[in-house]
Amino acid sequence: MNKLIIFNWKMNLADFIQADDVSGNIDVVVCPPFTHLEKIKKIMPAGFKLGAQNCFWENLGAYTGEISPVLLKSLGVEYVIIGHSERRNYIGETDEMINKKVLVALEAGLKVILCVGEPTRAIARELKIKNAELRKTKIYVKKQLEKDLKNSKFLILNSKLRNHLVIAYEPVWALSTSKNGHPDTPEDALEMIKFIKQLLNTKYKIPDTRVLYGGSVDSKNIKNFLEYKEIDGALVGGASLKIDEVKKIICQTKI
Ligand code: PGA
Repeated sequence: MNKLIIFNWKMNLADFIQADDVSGNIDVVVCPPFTHLEKIKKIMPAGFKLGAQNCFWENLGAYTGEISPVLLKSLGVEYVIIGHSERRNYIGETDEMINKKVLVALEAGLKVILCVGEPTRAIARELKIKNAELRKTKIYVKKQLEKDLKNSKFLILNSKLRNHLVIAYEPVWALSTSKNGHPDTPEDALEMIKFIKQLLNTKYKIPDTRVLYGGSVDSKNIKNFLEYKEIDGALVGGASLKIDEVKKIICQTKI
């Protein structure tokens, strides 16, 4: 399966890459702000898919300011990010809300990029402490996934919706840390991604679900993560705003 790179512009605008930069064994999704979905769709290179950064849990009705999954789909949107930590933290989205969004978005035919990840993790050099931290992290992420995917089995296993679920593992403490702070190590990210895959397989028998890593991925570190075959791609935030970074990330991923 191709590696999948999601460029999440968040509430920013960015320069757009040219068509000849994307062909190859890679899937690319760009998620601009809602206000620019239509414009980006018109100028998007053939290899790109369009993604939204959020949606609501109803398709129509008196919900001022909310965004309907079916209307996104009719606009040509293929993917939607649900449960990003910034929405969990700043907007107060709960696992229950996220679960409702996942169900309605899948039903509307959108591909869901569900974000999960623990808020904190001690950076421990000593092996015993590190193992204990990873154990706690696994318990946290397992609970989150179970709540966010509650009652979704019939959709996930629907043959028409095959591969419509993508998981992005984003340790919240590692977001925006590539320049300052402590980004996650590829080894710990790998361990968590293997764990998530195992969970998905045990519970839903979907071993080919793509599980991405997100958390300050840029052109300098992306190869360290993607060289592992279990890490199916990356959710990129800050680095997706710089055209040179985007080109380099795509080049690094195609190799
Ligand atoms: P970052 O953001 O790459 O800027 O850390 C990732 C994300 O929030 O999805």
